[in-house]
Amino acid sequence: MKLLVVGSGGREHAIIMKLAESRHSPELYCAPGNGGISRYAKCFDVKATDIPGMVELAKKLQPDYVFVAPDDPLVLGMVDAMQAEGFRTFGPKSDAAIIEGSKIFSKELMKKYNIPTGKYEVFTDSEKAIAYIKAQNTYPTVIKADGLALGKGVILAQNEEEAVEAVKSMIDGRKFGESSTRIVIEEFLTGPEVSVLSFTDGKTVVPMISSMDHKRALDNDMGLNTGGMGTVAPNPYYTDAIAQECMEKIFLPTIEAMQKEGRPFTGCLYFGLMLTPDGAKVIEYNCRFGDPETQVVLPLLETDLVDIIEAVYNGTLADLQVTWKQESAACVVMASGGYPIKYESGKLISGLDEKGQTDGVFVYHAGTKFADNQFTTAGGRVLGITATAGNLQDALDKAYAGVEKISWEQVHYRHDIGQRALQAKG
Ligand code: AMP
Ligand code: GLY
Repeated sequence: MKLLVVGSGGREHAIIMKLAESRHSPELYCAPGNGGISRYAKCFDVKATDIPGMVELAKKLQPDYVFVAPDDPLVLGMVDAMQAEGFRTFGPKSDAAIIEGSKIFSKELMKKYNIPTGKYEVFTDSEKAIAYIKAQNTYPTVIKADGLALGKGVILAQNEEEAVEAVKSMIDGRKFGESSTRIVIEEFLTGPEVSVLSFTDGKTVVPMISSMDHKRALDNDMGLNTGGMGTVAPNPYYTDAIAQECMEKIFLPTIEAMQKEGRPFTGCLYFGLMLTPDGAKVIEYNCRFGDPETQVVLPLLETDLVDIIEAVYNGTLADLQVTWKQESAACVVMASGGYPIKYESGKLISGLDEKGQTDGVFVYHAGTKFADNQFTTAGGRVLGITATAGNLQDALDKAYAGVEKISWEQVHYRHDIGQRALQAKG
């Protein structure tokens, strides 16, 4: 069996390392990959968004499956292009990936099918949007660009001035290009956030273990929003009762809604949830595995990931028993100093063996290069150090012990990953 994974981050490394455990012993390819991934899979220098280039690569490699992991190629239709050439795939087609690609699509879907989410209005005209904000006069208020904006398209405006500025920069200033000429203004919701990834073949939905992201750059949730500085799983706020409520009111209705719309979703659907005082509500959908959620979820997966990929593709997920280790996992992201704004790359990383690993943990590479038998930094987020254990405290201790062994000039990481989860457990 041969598998091609598209992407280059810590998420893709976690997927590759899980696939490497499969009893099918697949030959693994990744494009473009990174230094750490190259120790587990043969990497090819094709950009994740280069659809014709990736199809050419698939024709050369003839993989049994092409696993498209990042949002942009999914939204741009890489799965459609691969299927048109006869390749089997993991990931939604573009008409389903729109659930992440357009916030307006996803909000309208939820409204139409009564899926709990914050109240909202859509605007394409900044004057009308500003008039609405002034009439509402409630802050914070949430302003979202319609399209993909590298995870930066959401602004939580604390007052009128910030809200007006956000609207003007998005619609008139085209801050995120075409992505932001249409916006959603949404009610501000409160409560703990939970990420739930799920496998789905378009009919059956199998939620994975829940997780908690840490989006801010600095300890105590200070500093700027990032792609994610660490994760833990499971998320202690996500009780069995809440899981059942989400299955009935959110997960199944979403899968059925996409089917009814003639846009069956297959692959991994990510539910970004807020547990509000009025129940769980959807903050966002992602059409793919989360990063760094994947880094704590997949290590807890017992079932062979290749079997899941096949069941999702064949539409037989209902027949597969997907099981999880009854353990906890923690991932601490090690980043370049200055991330997410300005940082230097090319720093020599110490503490890794020739596989890019260190004892006792999984070292998932997000942004590294491997050359002359050395790993160097090559991005904002560099490594995700993940450990599993019988309980969260032990998983965190193991992950931070791994972090202690690894270093480079100007390394930055949070020291409080998992603290909120530990407090929630009481
Ligand atoms: P998103 O890019 O949609 O994941 O949004 C980024 C972050 O903004 C989320 O993880 C939430 O913390 C926050 N957020 C998004 N929408 C809302 C909302 N309606 N109310 C409160 N916070 C929100
Ligand atoms: N960690 C959030 C995401 O992958 O979008």
